[in-house]
Amino acid sequence: MSASIRPMEPRHLREVLEIERSSFASPWTEGAFLSECDTGPDREWVVIESPWGVLGYAGVAIMVDEAHVMNVAVREDARHAGLGLALMSHIIEAAALRGGVRMTLEVRPSNEAATALYERLGMTAAGLRPGYYSDVGEDALVMWSEDLCSEEMLELRRSLAEEAARSLGAFEGVVPSRPTGLAGMPGDDLVLAIETSCDETAAAVLRGGREVLSSVVASQVDFHARFGGVVPEIASRKHTEAIVGVVDEALERAGVDLADLDAIGVTHGPGLIGALVVGLSYAKGLAFATGLPLVGVNHMEGHIFANLLADPELEPPMVALLVSGGHTSLVHVPAWGEYEVLGSTLDDAAGEAFDKVAKVLGLGYPGGPAISRLAAEGDAEAIRFPRAMMDSGDYDFSLSGLKTAVINHVRHEREAGRQIDLADLAASFQAAVVDVQVAKSVRAAKEHGVSTFCIGGGVAANPVLREALREALAAEGVRLSVPPFELCTDNAAMIGAAAHFRFWRGERLEPSAEGVSDLKLG
Ligand code: KG4
Ligand code: ZN
Repeated sequence: MSASIRPMEPRHLREVLEIERSSFASPWTEGAFLSECDTGPDREWVVIESPWGVLGYAGVAIMVDEAHVMNVAVREDARHAGLGLALMSHIIEAAALRGGVRMTLEVRPSNEAATALYERLGMTAAGLRPGYYSDVGEDALVMWSEDLCSEEMLELRRSLAEEAARSLGAFEGVVPSRPTGLAGMPGDDLVLAIETSCDETAAAVLRGGREVLSSVVASQVDFHARFGGVVPEIASRKHTEAIVGVVDEALERAGVDLADLDAIGVTHGPGLIGALVVGLSYAKGLAFATGLPLVGVNHMEGHIFANLLADPELEPPMVALLVSGGHTSLVHVPAWGEYEVLGSTLDDAAGEAFDKVAKVLGLGYPGGPAISRLAAEGDAEAIRFPRAMMDSGDYDFSLSGLKTAVINHVRHEREAGRQIDLADLAASFQAAVVDVQVAKSVRAAKEHGVSTFCIGGGVAANPVLREALREALAAEGVRLSVPPFELCTDNAAMIGAAAHFRFWRGERLEPSAEGVSDLKLG
C-alpha cells in the first residue's frame, strides 16, 4: 500500500475541505474549490490518494507563461514524510508542461517548513505583500522561480523527482499518530453500514458509532432452511434482490438522506465470497456516486464491536470469544483495533455444530435457537458427551467429534428401539459445547491478565453459554460484557460501530479492494 498523485475530483472535496479547514485560518470554501479545481489547459489540481484517504492536495494556475501556485496542503498526520515535496515537484512539472516559465506563490513568513521546502525547489524570496493574510494581518512572503525551464531547474527537478517517487511509494500510513482508544471520537458523524457476508442482508445507520438510528436485517433463513444450511448461490441472489430495499429502509427509518452521511462502512470479509461481493459492490457504487469515504470492516471485528453498543464503557484490554456459524475463536484485544487470535476451531465452528446436530434431530435450520429452546427443558447430565481438547493446554477447539458422538448416540438408541428424549439430548450436547468454551475462556482471561471479557457471534445468544461464562468469569474477578440478543446474530449495526472507529482513524478502503473470504483479524 502506498500513496499516489491523482487529478482532484469532486469526490475528493469532502476530505480536501477537512484538511483545508484544519490547516488554514482563512480556509477556501467548497464553492471556491469547485470553481477552481476543474483541471484544464490553464490549471492543474491534484490530490494524494492513499488507503488512508486523501493526504494532501495542490493546485496551480498558468496565465500565458506565468504559473501561480494557488494552494498546497498536507494532512496533519501525514506531514514530515516528503509528501509536500512530492506534491510541489508534480505541480512544477505540470506548470512547465503547460508553458509556465516563471512561477510565484505566497507563503506565511512564519511557516518555516514551507519556506524551506520552496527553497529546496529552487524558489527564492521576491518580496512582501503587506497584510495579505487578513485573519492576523500578516504579510505574505512572495517566492518565485525565474525560469522553470533552465538547465539548472531541470536538473534539480530530475533529482527531486526520484526522492518524491520514493516518498510516495514508501509511505506507510499514519499509524503512530492514530488513536487507539475511543476517547475523543466525534459523537455526531453519521455512518451507513452494509453487511452481506452470509445469509442476512443488513443495513444500519449509526450516529457517533454508538447510537443506532436504524438497523434493518432481511433474513434469508426461509430460503436456506429447506436445504438444511446456507446455499452460497442462493445467498448471493437473495442479497442482490434485497440490498437496494434494505439500504433505503435503513436510511428512511433513521430519517437521513445520503447527503447527510459522513461515511459508508461495509463488511469486506470474512464470509461467502459471492455474498460479500454484493454488499461491497453496492457500497462502492454509493461511495463513488456520493463522494463519501468508504471504510472496510472485518465481520469478526463487527461481532466484537456489537458489545460496545450495549456497553458504552467497554474498554480493552480484554479477551473475546467469537462463536458463530462460521467461526469459533478466542481473541486477545489489547486495544481497539488490535487483535491477537489465541486459538480457533480445528474443524467445525460452534454454530455449525448446533446446526448439524439439529439437522440430525430433524429440528430444522438454523439449529442453535431450536436446540437451546429444547435444552431448557432437558437434563444436561443425562448423556455424557466428550469434551474434546478440554485439557489440550492451548486455545484451540474441535467440535466434529462431539457432532459424531451425538449422531452415533441417536443411531444406537434408534437401533435399540428406544425413544430418544430430545430435550435431554439437546441439553447434554449444549453442555459439552459450553463446558469447553467456558474453561478455555477463563484460562485465556487469566493468562492475559484482563478484567474484561466479551462475546460475539450467533452462538453468543445462547443463554446457557452466557450464564455459565458470567459465573465462571465472575469467580475470577472478570466482568463479562454481552451484546443484546438481536446484535449477536449478523446485523449491520455492529459493522457501523466498527466502521465509525476505522473512519475516525482515517482508514479507507481502496476503490479496487475486493471481498476477502478468509480475511484475518488484526
Ligand atoms: O453470527 P451468525 O449470525 O452468522 C455467522 O456469522 O455465522 O451466527 C449464526 C449461528 C448459527 O449457526 C446459529 O445456529 C447459531 O449462530 N445460533 C445459536 C443460537 N442462536 C443462533 N447457537 C446456539 N444457541 C443459540 N441460541
Ligand atoms: Zn457473524
